[in-house]
Order: sequence, then structure tokens, then C-alpha cells
Amino acid sequence: MKELIFSRIFLSLILLSSFSPAIARGGELTSLSSGLRNISYAGSTRRLFQENQSQSSVDKAHGYMTNADLEKAIMEFARRCSNISRIYSIGKSVNGVPLWVIEISDKPGKEEAEPAFKFIGNVHGDEPVGRELLILLANWICDNQMKDPLARLIIQNVHLHILPSMNPDGFSIKRRGNANNIDLNRDFPDQFSPLNDDEDMRQPETRAIMNWLKEIHFTASASLHGGALVANYPWDGTPDRKSHYFSCPDDETFRFMASTYSRSHYNMSLSTEFQGGITNGASWYPIYGGMQDWNYIYAGCFELTLEISDNKWPDAKELPIIWEYNRMSMLNLVASLVKTGVHGRIFSSDSGRPLPGFIMIKGINYTVKAGRAFADYHRMLAPEGKYQVVATVPGYKLKTTSIWLGAEATTVDFILDPEVTPGDGKLLKSICDCNNEREARRVLAGFFWGPHLEIYFVLAVILAFLCILLQRRIKSNLSRSRQITKRSIVV
Ligand SMILES: *[C@@H]1O[C@H](CO)[C@@H](O)[C@H](O)[C@H]1NC(C)=O
Ligand SMILES: *[C@@H]1O[C@H](CO)[C@@H](O)[C@H](O)[C@H]1NC(C)=O
Ligand SMILES: *[C@@H]1O[C@H](CO)[C@@H](O)[C@H](O)[C@H]1NC(C)=O
Ligand SMILES: [Zn+2]
Repeated sequence: MKELIFSRIFLSLILLSSFSPAIARGGELTSLSSGLRNISYAGSTRRLFQENQSQSSVDKAHGYMTNADLEKAIMEFARRCSNISRIYSIGKSVNGVPLWVIEISDKPGKEEAEPAFKFIGNVHGDEPVGRELLILLANWICDNQMKDPLARLIIQNVHLHILPSMNPDGFSIKRRGNANNIDLNRDFPDQFSPLNDDEDMRQPETRAIMNWLKEIHFTASASLHGGALVANYPWDGTPDRKSHYFSCPDDETFRFMASTYSRSHYNMSLSTEFQGGITNGASWYPIYGGMQDWNYIYAGCFELTLEISDNKWPDAKELPIIWEYNRMSMLNLVASLVKTGVHGRIFSSDSGRPLPGFIMIKGINYTVKAGRAFADYHRMLAPEGKYQVVATVPGYKLKTTSIWLGAEATTVDFILDPEVTPGDGKLLKSICDCNNEREARRVLAGFFWGPHLEIYFVLAVILAFLCILLQRRIKSNLSRSRQITKRSIVV
């Protein structure tokens, strides 16, 4: 263990000497706006030294929910809005505080062929605006579920998961890092740095997020920070560790998503510092081990890092106005998951079964996975473009279709044909393309070599007949569902 720590410190020192000094995402505005990047945290990129606590803690916290208040607010929400929500915990902080999540949906906890979105607040303990706003957001959606079309759209078509505080321990001591003084937004595995590859060193809060994303497939997400006013998108890091624009394969998609947020905001898009109120993370300042890049690379989730107030810890009486400034942005970002992009499901042509395969867009080096149960996929894309959508499933012939994506979402369902390998299994497949292949094979084997030849022959014919019937049913069902959703395409 000691050795491990030493080697880590050694590694950190090596990396520090090659890293350009990066202050925290959501760092001090003064140094950022002047374009200078003075180091405000000494030590390794992960371990933080104690910061000066300028203001008296009591003043700062006045009007903000304590961790106990937050838990109470979550439980009260759950009681009041049980028709559209459920509460669950994804783990505990270092000091044992549960990391509560509110899920908002008309079928909370049920798997549906719908995209999921997550909001995470208070990643940094000293940036508490997000946790307040997320409780306001949940309650606003609940209060407006009958009156507001966006609230209704989100409840009916999205599974919205809200983690108000990822770092309750840091919050309670008004410090950026967690109880071990680790910056959680530097604790994730990184594409360019091996710094966080050691699982044993991972913080419980980070681990909770990583396990959460194994359970739930999120289409997109946002984490809420403070200290600036900008929507930040991948990449956050660069291979040469220098600060410059470094675009990810989905640069256009991310610019669209970030702009969706900034343009719906009261004045984020009017920024003089960031054009349009959005920024590529690395062109602002590179970070390594951040949650955003990890989401996109390892979890198939399009994540933004939202800096929602210049002041990290504003006076609590400003919270209602900050909420008003951000309300439409938050709602529109979540709603963009169903109002834009390409969506659909993947089926097999032989059995009609959903096939949890993959969706790719020609020219974009990124793969989106379809859902496990319903094989539904939700591909965020910049609108007003021509795209070639490719569906692949191992063992099936891939299919490509060209679409013109306008301002609205498009639905494309794929029906894939099994690959017919010459020789083995060909005869079987031509007789019956049923999903119960093993049964059919058994029947056929019996037909050729069994003692009761006639009986097996009759059985095989019946089986083939049933399969043809089944296929017809599937096809007619699909064409019927096509008629309901006008924009839907089946290929
Ligand atoms: C860093 O901070 C010091 C004062 O703390 C200042 O003199 C210096 O100009 C700053 N900028 C850079 C780039 O070092
Ligand atoms: C946005 O409005 C707030 C409150 O009026 C103000 O403090 C801030 O400077 C404004 N920011 C921009 C980029 O206009
Ligand atoms: C596509 O991305 C992967 C990493 O996800 C990378 O290894 C590969 O080289 C990329 N391919 C191209 C053609 O850029
Ligand atoms: Zn932050």
C-alpha cells in the first residue's frame, strides 16, 4: 500500500512537470477571464491542499440547504410526487452520506424504449448552486406536469435522473475536494493519462458514478459547476497536454447541445469571454481525469459541464434568480433528447426480436449502443444535416440508410437479416428462420436420421409454416406502427 502511494506521488510529480498547470474546471473567474492560469492548487493533480477559507462559513451557508435539509427535500419530493418519481441511492460518500438520486418518469424504475438523461450537481463541494437548482427543477417539473408541455414531454418520453449532490462531504466543509480532499472531477480514468487507472485508489463517490453507468445507459447528461458562465463540451484533455481546441468525433453534436443550453439561458450566450457562451474544454484549459470525457468515451453518454454562475457560492437570496436564468436551459437540454436526433429500434427480420446492436454515423468515429431490453437507440446529432446511419449487429447483415435530419427528431427502425453462412446451417435457415433454432435443428436432425421419418417430416413442415406466419405478423405490426408515427422510416 505504501509503495503504491509512493509510486503514485512519483507518477504525479512526473506528470506535473509535463502538465501545463490546470486550475479546476469551474475555477476562479479572475484568473480565468484574464486568460492567466496561475496554479491555485498545489500538489498533484488529484490531491488538493487545504484552501484558504476567506469568508466565514456561517455567512456563506446561510440560506443553503444542509446535507440533512437536502435529504429531507428529496424525501419530501418523493412523497409529494410519487406518481412520477422514485428515489434511490447509488452509494455513499467517504463519510457515509447516501448519494440520493431522484428519477422522474411516468414509469420510474421501469425499462422503456426511451432515452435517459442525468443531472449531477455539487461535484465540487464549494459549488453548491447546482444542488439547489436541481431540487428546484424536480419540484418545478412535478408542479407543472399538467400545465407545461415541456414538463409533460420529459415525464412521458425521458427517464430523468437527478443526483443533486455528488460530494456532500466537500459541501459540509465548504471545500472543493471530497472528505479525502480529492477533486472528484479529476478522479476518473483518462484517455491520455494513466494517473487514475488504479481502481483501489478510486474515491467512493467516483466509483458510485461508474457503477451507476453500468446499470443505466444514459444518452446524455450534464454536471453543474460554478465559477464561470459557460457550457463546456469535450474534449477536456489534449494528448500534448497543451491548451488548444481539441475536438472529439461529435464536435458538431456537442456544439449544438452546448448551444441549446446557452441560448436558452438568460444571458450565457451573450458572453464576451466565450463566443456563444460555449467552449471546448481543452481550448479553455485542459484537465485530466474529468467526468465529462469519461462519460463520452467509456459510457456512451454525451456529457456537458455547465458553469452556471460566475460566483461559485453566491448569496442564497440570488438562488431564485439564478434558477430563473437556468430553468429553460435545463428543460430544453433534457427535451432535446427526444426533440432532436435520430431514434429507433433494431429488429431481426427472422424472429422480430429486438437486437441490441450498434448505430454508427458515417464520418463520425463513434458508436452508440442500443438498449439491452428493447434495442432502442437514441443518437444525438446536430440538426440540419445529411447523415448516413448504419446499424450493425454481430451475425446480421448491416444496413445503411441516408437521412436528412431537420430541426426535429427522426425515427428510423432497422430490420436486419441474418448472415447466411454457406454450408453449415443454410438448409436449416431456408426452412425456418425461427429464433428457436436449436429446436428446429433437433427436429431436422430427427427428420433425417430418426426412426419415425413421417412424423418428423410433418413436424418440420408445421414448424416452417408457423415461422412464415410469425414473420408476416411482425412485418404487418411494424408497418402499422409506421403509420402512427408519421416521420418514421423502416429499413
Ligand atoms: C500569477 O500570480 C502572480 C501574483 O500572485 C502575478 O504576479 C502573476 O503575474 C500571475 N500570472 C502568471 C501568468 O504567473
Ligand atoms: C448575466 O447577468 C448577470 C446578472 O444580471 C450579470 O451579473 C452577468 O454579468 C451577466 N453576464 C453576461 C455574460 O452578460
Ligand atoms: C476511432 O476511435 C478509436 C478510439 O475510440 C481509435 O482507436 C481509432 O483510431 C479511431 N479511428 C479513426 C479512423 O480515427
Ligand atoms: Zn466545479
